[in-house]
Amino acid sequence: MQADAIWQGGGIATMVPELGRYGAIEDGAVATGNGRIVWVGRRTDLPAALIGPATIHHDIDRGWLTPGLIDCHTHLVFAGDRSAEFEARLGGISYQDAAKSGRGILSTMAATRAATEAELIAIAGPRLQRLLADGVTTVEIKSGYGLSLSDELKMLRAARALGAAHGVRVRTTLLAAHAVPPEFAGRPDAYIDHIVNEILPAAASAGLADAVDAFAETIAFSPAQVSRVFNAARALGLPVKLHADQLADGNGAALAASHHALSADHLEYTSPAGVRAMAAAATVAVLLPGAYATVGATQPPPVASFRAHNVPMAVATDANPGSSPLLSLLTAMNLACCLFRLTPEEALAGVTRHAAAALGLADEIGTIAVGRAADLVVWPVNHPRELAYWMGALVPTSINISNQNYTAPHR
Ligand code: NIG
Ligand code: FE
Repeated sequence: MQADAIWQGGGIATMVPELGRYGAIEDGAVATGNGRIVWVGRRTDLPAALIGPATIHHDIDRGWLTPGLIDCHTHLVFAGDRSAEFEARLGGISYQDAAKSGRGILSTMAATRAATEAELIAIAGPRLQRLLADGVTTVEIKSGYGLSLSDELKMLRAARALGAAHGVRVRTTLLAAHAVPPEFAGRPDAYIDHIVNEILPAAASAGLADAVDAFAETIAFSPAQVSRVFNAARALGLPVKLHADQLADGNGAALAASHHALSADHLEYTSPAGVRAMAAAATVAVLLPGAYATVGATQPPPVASFRAHNVPMAVATDANPGSSPLLSLLTAMNLACCLFRLTPEEALAGVTRHAAAALGLADEIGTIAVGRAADLVVWPVNHPRELAYWMGALVPTSINISNQNYTAPHR
């Protein structure tokens, strides 16, 4: 078989753990066909039979090739902004008090409900381009600012349309259990009934949700309410994930693990028992340093304990208008190192291999291995640790998503 394309002329950070640090191949080559990786190894071992007259040659130019980066937790589709709330919080009011006083998630809900699907697509497009400019080839996008049947589906359709319009792999997550909307004020269980009986089945039958998420917190939903949503999701064959233990230890990590969640996210207050439960259930810990920094948190997640128990750690932007107006996954990697003390290698695994696992896509993306999608990024760096080192300075040389190649970066 002749390859459609070949990358050589530099290092390959495959992120395959069996290959050692960064899964590195110093002078490597990668061949692709039909949007998949068909060969990877040392350049000197590249079979001549793979090269044909139609094969396109990409030069790594003494830099490094990595898997396409994966932002596995975003709320990218929303209207309006919360810069006034940001200012108020810097003036002393807490994230929780902002939520209770009608700012918070419900103010974004009002703006998002008022926007049409086309408007949401237009507003979120530049945000997606900004992520893509960091070498992000897969983005998870949650609903959760509609909080009604029609508005949640509108958000999910907008997310799907964004992926198609920008050539990025998008995974959608239904987050109807994000806050109690005004129609159900004081009746959270009735809203959970509405999610379980109406919103979830409609999203599932329209094929609009790849997963289901919920916000477990005293300002959001209780473990019993989350469990009802998760049981309904799993009955429909949808995997689950959870916003857990962000502002206090609510036993969220163990709750997520008890439902075999793909991931539990935030986790600043997760207890040792929660870590052990996640390890047993192979639930990925998604760390969100942008939210930690923005809400002014002071207790970092239990990274040493995740490490000791082999809980895979992913890193994501949590891009959203309230707790994390962050649209750079490279910056999230840097923050994960500086604020949470991840190593640069852990940060890169966190936006590749472990982020893929957090989306249930470990066999599809996140490593450079035969059979995986040809999502590849060339970086002008001397070592892959530089991806986590630079702060707002690194621009990919080229980005390949499956069959599409973007040699001019989108910045
Ligand atoms: O991941 N924690 C809940 N949800 C979002 C924030 C939502 C918002 O404040 O608009 C988060 O931090
Ligand atoms: Fe979030």
